[in-house]
Amino acid sequence: MRKTSILFALPLWAGLSAAAAPEQILRDLEAEARRDSQTFTAFSAVRGEQFYRTERAGVDGGKISCASCHTADPRALGKTRAHKEILPLAPGANRERFTDPAKVDKWFRRNCNDVLGRACTAVEKGDFLAWLLSVK
Ligand code: HEC
Repeated sequence: MRKTSILFALPLWAGLSAAAAPEQILRDLEAEARRDSQTFTAFSAVRGEQFYRTERAGVDGGKISCASCHTADPRALGKTRAHKEILPLAPGANRERFTDPAKVDKWFRRNCNDVLGRACTAVEKGDFLAWLLSVK
């Protein structure tokens, strides 16, 4: 796949650039999941979609899920609570997604805390990304 190899080559010619491909971020999460859990076998896009859609009790008493802001279709434009536009989350619809590990970390931390009241596990993050990559 041409697009993938260009993304992999980017850090080489861009020197200190932190650019990565979503597939690389997924592999890093997989290594983390294996360290965390001896029973881990593989990420599941089915579990990832469930995770994305599951509504939980938010701090303000309302229901909140990843879909609350990123919408039912992660290829669509989303919206923050302040009604600011969020570009699509699925890499198939937005090539900048999951290419900057620092950004991915920052938003997983913030949004998992918001929605689950805790950090997401590597398995949850990997399932979630596996599903997003499967949505074309
Ligand atoms: C309250 C609104 C809101 C909710 C709920 C929410 N997000 Fe987000 N999310 C955002 C915003 C805002 C951004 C950053 C803006 C942008 O990148 O366009 C973002 C960006 C991200 C990114 C960065 C991806 C990248 O590479 O750019 C990830 C990962 C992410 N969200 C995961 C999640 C997950 C997982 C959940 C559910 C557990 C979730 N989000 C729920 C608002 C939300």
